[in-house]
Amino acid sequence: MSEHSDPQPFDLVIFGGTGDLAMRKLVPALYNIYKNGGMPGESRLIAVARTDLDVAAFHDLMASDAQPHVHPDLFDADTWATFISRVDFVRIDLMDGASYAALGECLDKQPGNTRLYYLSTGPRLFGPICNHLSANGLIKSDSRVAVEKPLGHDRASANEINDLIAAAFNETQIFRIDHYLGKEPVQNLIALRFGNSLFEPLWRRGRIRDVQITVAEELGIGRRGEFYDRTGALRDMVQNHLLQLLCIIAMEPPISVDGDSIRDEKLKVLRSLKPMTPERVVNNTVRGQYVGGTLGEAELPGYLDENGVPADSQTETFVALKTTIENWRWAGVPFYLRTGKRMQTKVSEIVITFDSLPHSIFSDQIASNSVNRLVIQLQPVESIKLHILSKKPGDALTLKPVMLDLDLSQSYNANYINAYQRLLVDLIAGKQALFMRRDEQDAAWAWIDPIIETWRAHGVAPKPYRVGSWGPAASGGLLGRRGLSWHEETL
Ligand code: BG6
Repeated sequence: MSEHSDPQPFDLVIFGGTGDLAMRKLVPALYNIYKNGGMPGESRLIAVARTDLDVAAFHDLMASDAQPHVHPDLFDADTWATFISRVDFVRIDLMDGASYAALGECLDKQPGNTRLYYLSTGPRLFGPICNHLSANGLIKSDSRVAVEKPLGHDRASANEINDLIAAAFNETQIFRIDHYLGKEPVQNLIALRFGNSLFEPLWRRGRIRDVQITVAEELGIGRRGEFYDRTGALRDMVQNHLLQLLCIIAMEPPISVDGDSIRDEKLKVLRSLKPMTPERVVNNTVRGQYVGGTLGEAELPGYLDENGVPADSQTETFVALKTTIENWRWAGVPFYLRTGKRMQTKVSEIVITFDSLPHSIFSDQIASNSVNRLVIQLQPVESIKLHILSKKPGDALTLKPVMLDLDLSQSYNANYINAYQRLLVDLIAGKQALFMRRDEQDAAWAWIDPIIETWRAHGVAPKPYRVGSWGPAASGGLLGRRGLSWHEETL
């Protein structure tokens, strides 16, 4: 699969280079890119961290912590050996401007390489890093910066951080990561919607009954207790990943696949979300927090017993909410969003349910209750399936649900390409379509802030839900009011 038209030699500088994200995702992704010929000339990976390591020790760390995350089918010892010869390590105290001279020296060894700075650190370091890079003259007109979420904890703090980044880089140089936009089925959804005429007439109110977006995780909060407790599921998942998915489903056809065309359309969706008044927040959102229970064979503790979590924490580990989009295409169609930790199973999916038959000519139950569904699954398996009814083989005219599989990714081994690989390829190529623009991010916070504020002002406490369940019962109630249910209950 060709990923580059003509990639230019680059230095990918990862701040937080010894961290979890670098080891689990970024280094393996860059290895794959290297293997595909995507690191031309003398392109390098330069890991930057405070940790006291030399280059050889960093290579050892890559072998122990990053290499196991390379897909076994793609790993090759000789390629790995030549890949690590392109990897350098620079020790820096990120808060100390003087220590950036060492990075400058390293970059000067390949002065023609495009500098790509990847900030995989806490957001409070974004401002100081950008400032020190600028003060040390390390930013050129073709340099780029990629920033990881969370970018702030509300609209005001996101603005502050964005201002600090903007003091060093132009908007066209800033790549805000939302790794959900790099997932194959999300790309495929764009292809499905805008590469086919079939769905467009159906993609609207009057044809679509409701849209559900679920990102359920079996994982808990791991070693991130303190961070997570300050953040919660609304900021961690809904403000970015779930709203971005909603945008891709709901946006109008962009005029092209260029960065700004797609982002202009997503922005319009975010601005058309029905504002969350306190009354709507109380009626249309559900907060949850997991309590101990069984997941598979394992007996797992509740959120309050996790490391780093205060015993009286009111942080939500689950959110479900209903919203609508106030425009001609979507007025009145409910969009249900749901995400949670320690849920019954890991599944991320978008379920688009079409309207029911105006009248059924078939007598059996299945036929009269049937609706068509388009199910786009991001995880655990990447797939796009259309649920329809067909006739059971045999004499009688009895119907049965069948699924049309619309996804060809298996045939292309696309499952090997992780979201970070795709995003890095675009960062290297300077393509911004899969990264969030500042105004988009601001619009998302503008919609989220009133939810956080109402929960606080009204003392909306998270409802307990058992580890291994689908969240608090109230989450089903959000749909139950309209006689609907979450997709897993219909299977
Ligand atoms: C991250 C969140 O952005 O996404 C994590 O901070 C979450 O809490 C993760 O676990 C989920 O990503 P994925 O790709 O595993 O669904």
